[in-house]
Amino acid sequence: MWSPAVFLSLLPLATAQLSGTVGPTTTTASKAAKKICNILSYGGVASATTDNSAAITAAWAACASGGEVYIPAGNYGLSTWITLDGGTGVSINLEGIIYRTGTAGGNMIYIENTSDFEFYSANSAGAIQGYGYQFLEDGEYGPRILRLYKVVDFSIHDIALVDSPQFHLTLDTCSNGEVYNTIIRGASMGGLDGIDVWGTNIWIHDVEVTNKDECVTVKSPASDILVESIYCNWSGGCAMGSLAADTAISNIEYNHIYTQNSNQMYMIKSNGGSGYVENCQFNNFMGHSNAYTIDLDSAWSDETTAAGNGVEYTNLTFSHWHGTTLNGLQRPVIRLICPPLEPCKELEIDAFYVWTETGTSELYLCENAYGSGPCLHTGTAYTTTTTTATVTTVTGYAYTTMPGEITTTIGITASIPIPTVPTSFFPGLKPTSALCKNGGC
Ligand SMILES: *[C@@H]1O[C@H](CO)[C@@H](O)[C@H](O)[C@H]1NC(C)=O
Ligand SMILES: *[C@@H]1O[C@H](CO)[C@@H](O)[C@H](O)[C@H]1NC(C)=O
Ligand SMILES: *[C@@H]1O[C@H](CO)[C@@H](O)[C@H](O)[C@H]1NC(C)=O
Repeated sequence: MWSPAVFLSLLPLATAQLSGTVGPTTTTASKAAKKICNILSYGGVASATTDNSAAITAAWAACASGGEVYIPAGNYGLSTWITLDGGTGVSINLEGIIYRTGTAGGNMIYIENTSDFEFYSANSAGAIQGYGYQFLEDGEYGPRILRLYKVVDFSIHDIALVDSPQFHLTLDTCSNGEVYNTIIRGASMGGLDGIDVWGTNIWIHDVEVTNKDECVTVKSPASDILVESIYCNWSGGCAMGSLAADTAISNIEYNHIYTQNSNQMYMIKSNGGSGYVENCQFNNFMGHSNAYTIDLDSAWSDETTAAGNGVEYTNLTFSHWHGTTLNGLQRPVIRLICPPLEPCKELEIDAFYVWTETGTSELYLCENAYGSGPCLHTGTAYTTTTTTATVTTVTGYAYTTMPGEITTTIGITASIPIPTVPTSFFPGLKPTSALCKNGGC
């Protein structure tokens, strides 16, 4: 038995922003030892064109009070969507590949009101193939792949979510969770979010996302969320939002985020609204070829204006950023557009080294933004004020690239091959856990 205190002393960085332990409360092995519900014993057929929905649901019902739903290696079609509700002490071991064949909207797999839960792949080869291109090439969206709602004490790991016809993974009002050693590969198009998360005490780490929308994004309400070692391999980039009325976000930490060819390295987006975002850190960001770098936009034009004076942004720290941006004169590298009626307070930017890939100068823009660091306003007057700084030299912006960076976009007219789960998500860092197939489970 280990106490939270021991856990903290063993993994000080990993737990910095969490409020307690995360993940299932009983082991994978103990669940499997209790009972195994192999979908092939519940009517499942290892065929990519057979609907395995009823078999998975029946296997879940049989193991939901303790056990492991087992989907062995092989191909499985899914034409009707699955809702798995309730359950405790239950895992899903997806060693095979699920192929979308149905065309309804909604969520292919929806898991709700579950505790002590694990969704993983013991051979690290489990995947869900959404064949999103079949919708996207016609200018349409289809179902989302996986959504967890009110799931407590859980983990998701060692799986690939591929070519979703819409969002890939949503964690809605979940707590004490962990997502790691996961790859998401979608087409280069908006509306195909990687991971969207809200809830409390969740650790998302060692994840790679390719798409053209949210990489790993926190929504409101959220607290105590730690996002670490994320590789946005041609994506929209990581973000917070969109935020509107009654925003409640605190104690979020992003650390070691590598982003290339994305819209932004980090964006916080709102338009009007109320509530707060406070006590957050964005540390050790690295990347290149992104359109925006730090972009806090409280007048985001893609969002309808919400009632209120604006979200209150307080005590946000951006520290140790390295890399380059596409054109830092066209799009300010530091771009802080704070609400005029609620100026941002206690912002801090330090060790910030990002240089432009085009031209010989770049801009920093701070509107109604107070704190310390380049272009931020000092003092506590909190009046409406704008500073633009032109920067002609940045030293120390060197960055290390990731192996195998995507160099052309993934189109929307062909199937996306299922990738293997990588074993590196930030230059020079090893994942916290080895893959299951390498003995990590
Ligand atoms: C899930 O829990 C909510 C309350 O938290 C309840 O209203 C809902 O009926 C539950 N759903 C199922 C399917 O049990
Ligand atoms: C600012 O936020 C950090 C967490 O990011 C927290 O440790 C610190 O106490 C906060 N400072 C204040 C003054 O609340
Ligand atoms: C990044 O994405 C590209 C395109 O899918 C892929 O070829 C490459 O292997 C990915 N990089 C890594 C490190 O996984």
